[in-house]
Amino acid sequence: MKIIKAKDYADMSRKAADLIAAQILIKPDCVLGLATGSTPIGAYEELVRRNAAGELDFSQVTSINLDEYRGLSPENDQSYRYFMNDHLFNHVNIDKKNTFVPNGLEPDAQKACSDYDEIIRTRGPIDLQLLGLGHNGHIGFNEPADCFSKGTNCVNLTHSTIDANKRFFASEAEVPTQAYTMGCAGIMSARKILLIVSGLSKAEIVREVICGPVTPAVPASLLQLHPDVTLIADAEALSVFEA
Ligand code: F6R
Repeated sequence: MKIIKAKDYADMSRKAADLIAAQILIKPDCVLGLATGSTPIGAYEELVRRNAAGELDFSQVTSINLDEYRGLSPENDQSYRYFMNDHLFNHVNIDKKNTFVPNGLEPDAQKACSDYDEIIRTRGPIDLQLLGLGHNGHIGFNEPADCFSKGTNCVNLTHSTIDANKRFFASEAEVPTQAYTMGCAGIMSARKILLIVSGLSKAEIVREVICGPVTPAVPASLLQLHPDVTLIADAEALSVFEA
């Protein structure tokens, strides 16, 4: 794993945008695996700026997002489809037909997951997968478990994830309790992975991800086995490594 220390959130976002932009420049019709959450927002802002400045062309890019809440429609402003439209797709020249997010409105979980695996199979492989990191070590919505997940799966969100995400909803009761997520093996099949982490509250889990054992109790620890992972973390997130 290559580790790049950023000064702060803005620096981490710029460095992440540099890497994503480089991927698009070297392969204009690349497939990007994208994430939601608060961590990538700054990187998306920077990509939007570069697209507006004519430095970056999304016209041939395909995107495949990690996850979606089960039960939320694309119009719901807490859905991950809405988030992606709002933070990236509405502001760059990507063809929305080439942007994929699991179908949160598909009630049949098995169908929702197999449909998404089919999209990953036919539109992939993912050239660059962007990941954020949950406080409990989750990637996508793959929560700590007894074994690593393989394909897209329907997960029950843990209390810690619901707690972390309730800030985006009017009340905790409105946070969906389930989500469809790309599996750990699916994430690992990306050619390159870019993990971005910011803030003191993630410092301990970053240490476990990098230095701890590879265990499904910390899903992101699996990244230790991927041949091409770059971690861009700010000084706070890397603070446990300070002398
Ligand atoms: C989002 C996702 C999650 C987040 C993680 C960190 O698509 O898959 O794994 O990356 O929960 O969230 P933030 O960035 O809000 O701390």
